[in-house]
Amino acid sequence: MARISPETIAAVEQATDIVSLISEYVPLKRAGKDFKGLCPFHNEKTPSFFVVPAKQIYHCFGCGEGGNAFGFVMAMEKVSFPEAIRMLAERAGIRVETGDEPQAGGIDKEKLYRANEWAAKEYEKYLWDDPRGAPAREYLSGRGLGVEVAKRFRLGYAPPSRDTLLRALGRRSNQAIAVLEQAGLVTGRDRGEFYDRFRGRLMFPIMDVRGRVIAFGGRTLGDDTPKYLNSPETPVFSKGISLYAVSLAKQAALKSREIFVMEGYTDVLAAFQCGVEAVVATLGTALTAQHVRNLRRYADRVYLVYDGDFAGEKASDRGLDIFLEEEMDAAIVSLPAGEDPCDFLLKRGGEAFRALESTAQEIFDFKVAIVSKRHDLTTVAGQSRALDEILSTVAKVPTAMRQELYLARNTVLRDLAEKMNIQESVLRERLRRMRSGRAQEVVNKDVKYPSEEKWLLESILAEPKLVESAAARVSPDDVRHEDLQKIMRAVLTVFQRDGEARLSSVVTEAGELGGLVVALAENGAKQSNHEKRLSDCVDRILDRKKKETRTRLKRELAQKADSGDREATERLLRALQEEM
Ligand code: CTP
Ligand code: MN
Repeated sequence: MARISPETIAAVEQATDIVSLISEYVPLKRAGKDFKGLCPFHNEKTPSFFVVPAKQIYHCFGCGEGGNAFGFVMAMEKVSFPEAIRMLAERAGIRVETGDEPQAGGIDKEKLYRANEWAAKEYEKYLWDDPRGAPAREYLSGRGLGVEVAKRFRLGYAPPSRDTLLRALGRRSNQAIAVLEQAGLVTGRDRGEFYDRFRGRLMFPIMDVRGRVIAFGGRTLGDDTPKYLNSPETPVFSKGISLYAVSLAKQAALKSREIFVMEGYTDVLAAFQCGVEAVVATLGTALTAQHVRNLRRYADRVYLVYDGDFAGEKASDRGLDIFLEEEMDAAIVSLPAGEDPCDFLLKRGGEAFRALESTAQEIFDFKVAIVSKRHDLTTVAGQSRALDEILSTVAKVPTAMRQELYLARNTVLRDLAEKMNIQESVLRERLRRMRSGRAQEVVNKDVKYPSEEKWLLESILAEPKLVESAAARVSPDDVRHEDLQKIMRAVLTVFQRDGEARLSSVVTEAGELGGLVVALAENGAKQSNHEKRLSDCVDRILDRKKKETRTRLKRELAQKADSGDREATERLLRALQEEM
């Protein structure tokens, strides 16, 4: 990948004002010298997201996200660092010298959309207008999925040959193949020969909310594994964000403000065929907070539909807690054992399916039931573990009132406390401590660092004037913690290059540690008398270093003396005396 020059990066950084940038995404209000707004990275009702123009950084005190303009674009647009630079460069009207970069470097998302769209059309042709598509058409009708729904979802077929798409491409330019490769449609570069990823599979195009094809899931028609093969993660596709059928389900969901979330492509097709259209599916992964936030745009309530047998197992995944953390109403629809939504719908129809809504179990009650089953509630150990697990779930609920409602509503929880003869106030106290413990964790992500090293960086990041005097006394090698050492190096690199250690530049230089840099600077800003703090912690670091050197010298000395190496012994003795 072609490197973008440090000068270009610096120019883009200088030309970008973080307040106006972030205002394009989040409404900001002035708060003294800074600006604040609702954090775009987690769900909140009162603003804890701050933008600090003086330092050109943002920081959320709620979820701990933070960084500079580049970091913001990366997090918001889900792009890589070079892509973020390009986007900001374009915004600022700065040309990014691209040098020699045949296909990599600036990944052009438009090209990936076009490649996927082209492939979807090819696959559709093979399914409907090609003799080779016959087995796939038979498979569909055998499963009871009609032509109408299959066409609406733009299903297709990838014939078994290794080069269907490659042939269809016609004249094979390296560039065109590279685009197909980036889209995950062909593979094999490392073997020196490209071939189609999808062969002999029924193809389910995955579309974004605007209906653009961003990836595929391919189902085998037989029993070979994997049953489903999916596109890899690409710049336009991420399993943790995308939801299958969201572009088609949106309309219906917006009307009812309710949405079903299923697990399988075929489940969704069956639902649509039966007239139930507010339905999406995850793509073979657990639900993420990002999924839930996307769902919130269309619905206020989610029904999770799990296969009959697995509900219990699935419930132990983080998916359930995410709904509570995001304060999204959700309930679990359980199907009869052994049936998946597709079977159920095709056998009993859309009305029967909708009727399941009334039997759905609220997500919190479901969780309590699962936890109670998991522990032996006849023993004190089991009881206390169960209560702790449940309370830690409640502690994740952001607002106090909702926490209260959860505590109050669940009869199992109340019974449990009653059985154990626990006062409600004890539960509440435990909950309070869990909550504050968690808040501490978020704000002080850096608790695990040696305190003198943490103070050192807090001081110089909060007061960049101090860099020079700090650098005169300690070198990055004296900082033992790996992350903090890297940050110290980043500080010095920027200082040597720019003659000052502007926080935003240090964030850029620190790469993936940028968020930690901001957190340290924020922590530092809360302290006073940086000079004194700095000299104290430098003293401690140097003391520690001296002690270590002495210990090392003594050990070596003992060894050399044992082995009778007089010359070395004398040299070590002198060194030791100097250290004293
Ligand atoms: N999945 C996957 N890779 C697999 C198996 C499953 O990505 N090897 C994902 C697919 O998104 C699939 C979902 O998990 O749709 C649910 O899996 P499963 O229930 O096995 O598949 P169904 O969609 O129900 O498929 P079918 O009805 O054709 O068996
Ligand atoms: Mn299934």
